[in-house]
Amino acid sequence: MRVGVLGSGLMGGKLGTLFARAGHEVMFSYARSGRKLTRLARQAKGRARAGTVREAAQHADALVLAVHWSRIGDILGQTGDLSGKVLITCSLPMNDDDTELVVVGTSSGAEELARMVPQARVVSAFNTVPSEVLFGVYQARRRASRPSLVYCGDDRRAKDLAARLIGDVGFAAVDIGPLRMARYTEPFALLVARIAYGGKGGPELAYRFERYRKPPRRSSPL
Ligand SMILES: NC(=O)c1ccc[n+]([C@@H]2O[C@H](COP(=O)([O-])OP(=O)(O)OC[C@H]3O[C@@H](n4cnc5c(N)ncnc54)[C@H](OP(=O)(O)O)[C@@H]3O)[C@@H](O)[C@H]2O)c1
Repeated sequence: MRVGVLGSGLMGGKLGTLFARAGHEVMFSYARSGRKLTRLARQAKGRARAGTVREAAQHADALVLAVHWSRIGDILGQTGDLSGKVLITCSLPMNDDDTELVVVGTSSGAEELARMVPQARVVSAFNTVPSEVLFGVYQARRRASRPSLVYCGDDRRAKDLAARLIGDVGFAAVDIGPLRMARYTEPFALLVARIAYGGKGGPELAYRFERYRKPPRRSSPL
């Protein structure tokens, strides 16, 4: 898959690196320094390169949006036409000092984004996990029990691409339904962030969300 990374910071940098290591063709874009993008591409040790936002967007089968909410307008002004593009967003609709969600309740950041780019196919994913645990999840991906990661969206094919990428990072992808489910995942993601960065336990403690296996069927009732 060709993956365009829009925002190559903590989330975009790590996700892009892992997608490249999983065999995808990745283009890193949108950082304050071009050198950082080149370095990320070199260190990804896969098929990765640096490019402009427009190149990343036009070249991609799937785009990962990983910028602060305040940068969304800027980035969408650079992508060019996003008709039919799969846009996987992990961006939370946070205020400038990252203390509160600015869209909550009857809508979500993901739905607002879908309104801004109605021609794109938006999926919400990766926002419920602190970036710090991503490499560990990738390293443990061959274990029988994988941590779950929820995703939602309104377009089946877009969700299938997102599920594949989620699986490639090492998670068990859990489809939680239409994009409006982001109204619940985004506040949950804020809770995860609060525990990860505000508490004493750190990101590893904040992230452990698993689908429990169904108990084995018993041949006779107890
Ligand atoms: N980090 C997490 O664990 C986490 C978890 C869940 C959800 N999220 C969400 O993911 C999104 C990204 O978070 P993050 O932690 O990855 O943020 P981040 O590290 O600040 O990354 C944002 C990216 O945007 C770039 N950028 C910012 N201003 C720019 C400008 N004026 N011109 C060009 N590039 C600019 C940054 O450039 P530089 O690289 O040069 O700084 C960076 O590459 C946020 O919406 C956040 O809510 C993050």
